[in-house]
Amino acid sequence: MKTIIEPFRIKSVEPIQFTTREERIKILEEAHYNLFLVHSDHVLIDLLTDSGTSAMSSRQWAGIMQGDESYAGSPSFFRFEHAVRSITQMPFIIPTHQGRAAEKIIFSILGGKGKYFISNTLFDTTRANIEYSGATGIDLVCEEGKHPLIPAPFKGNMDVAKLEKTIEEIGAEHIPLVIVTVTNNSGGGQPVSMQNIKEVREVCKAYNIPMFIDACRFAENAYFIKQRELGYADKSIQEIACEMFSYADGCTMSAKKDAFANIGGFLALHNEALATECRNLLIITEGFPTYGGMAGRDLEAIAIGLEEVMDEHYLHYRVRSMEYLTEKLTNAGVPVMQPAGGHAVYLDAKSFLPHIPSSAYPGQALACALFIEGGVRSVEIGSLMFGKYDNDKQLIPATLELVRLAIPRRVYTQSHIDYVAEVIIEVFQNRNTITGLRIVEEAPLLRHFTAKLATLS
Ligand code: F0G
Repeated sequence: MKTIIEPFRIKSVEPIQFTTREERIKILEEAHYNLFLVHSDHVLIDLLTDSGTSAMSSRQWAGIMQGDESYAGSPSFFRFEHAVRSITQMPFIIPTHQGRAAEKIIFSILGGKGKYFISNTLFDTTRANIEYSGATGIDLVCEEGKHPLIPAPFKGNMDVAKLEKTIEEIGAEHIPLVIVTVTNNSGGGQPVSMQNIKEVREVCKAYNIPMFIDACRFAENAYFIKQRELGYADKSIQEIACEMFSYADGCTMSAKKDAFANIGGFLALHNEALATECRNLLIITEGFPTYGGMAGRDLEAIAIGLEEVMDEHYLHYRVRSMEYLTEKLTNAGVPVMQPAGGHAVYLDAKSFLPHIPSSAYPGQALACALFIEGGVRSVEIGSLMFGKYDNDKQLIPATLELVRLAIPRRVYTQSHIDYVAEVIIEVFQNRNTITGLRIVEEAPLLRHFTAKLATLS
């Protein structure tokens, strides 16, 4: 078999900045050991997120020039609406400036004190929007999803038995929505099977609870279904995506992921009354319903991106890139999530740094070490992001301590990835020298974005 190559050539390039180890030590100190506070021109390979960081295609850039900036009724909106509708088959399409703006709208309407939202795993902004409304978020990922080092084909699945039990305990009337996140970002970029989506749908139907999809990475999820689930090998990505959405009552999406856009998002719904309520809120917080929080040019870029992301050559290369890095790390003995996710490679910081307890944030310590070693920026997905305190101010740690290396779409080449592997392996060989961290300052919600930390030694 021949090498799976990047299915594009490069027309425009951006330089990346080299720094010395001594400079990086100082940069990190000044950023209070929080990589969100590091200036990106001090980062060599930026794997902080795959969100909004995609390289757009020449067609998308051409679309940008064609964007119509009319306040109302722009043709760009109708192209966007058509693109979203042809995948989701939902009649009501509401543009927002990014995913969390769609979340803010839906949870402001459906949330509130005494309400519960159940998911396989809620992303941090989704959980924050739920909690900000006064409601509670509950994650019910399947058992396989809780063991990073044990491979399984669909580790993003929801535990359907637990879903039913939880609905019985809480009472369906207190649960406005069940949300299936595809792929399961906080759980390792792992896919959800069609079978699981259908089973969740059946339970929701039995209790008359609407089911929504958090669709940020729908195309990557559809590709995994095609590869791994019986009966889908001969279906197109579009057909698989359409089937996934056919079981849902609505969806939220950040177009900054699987639409190759630098900004944008949407809400798509079947329920007209709910759509009207959402649009009323949209006008106050985002903008008129034919642009939401976006410019006409963004709507064009998304419409084209949604089409391009379903190209199988692209998805093949995309998923292979994660596998390639995962294989290199596995061969060197590095504890890395198995199998590879769709948009990122996740290091298991608990096994990587067994000498650092959760209370000393092993994931964050590892992310800092990768920056110092090679200027690689990653993100902790563990107790810094999801930790809570009990009544005695003691940390309730997150289930998993992960470090995510999210790969921006169509941005880095294979040699960049080879370099990243070398950096991680070097850090792994010197792991005993890494020490833990403590939090010095933090915000009440989404603390990982702004927290200040210090080393423990
Ligand atoms: N849902 C999921 C599953 C996400 O991964 C994100 C964003 C959002 C919702 C919110 O979308 O950023 O457009 O407001 N994830 C980014 C990340 C930030 O790095 O994983 P947004």
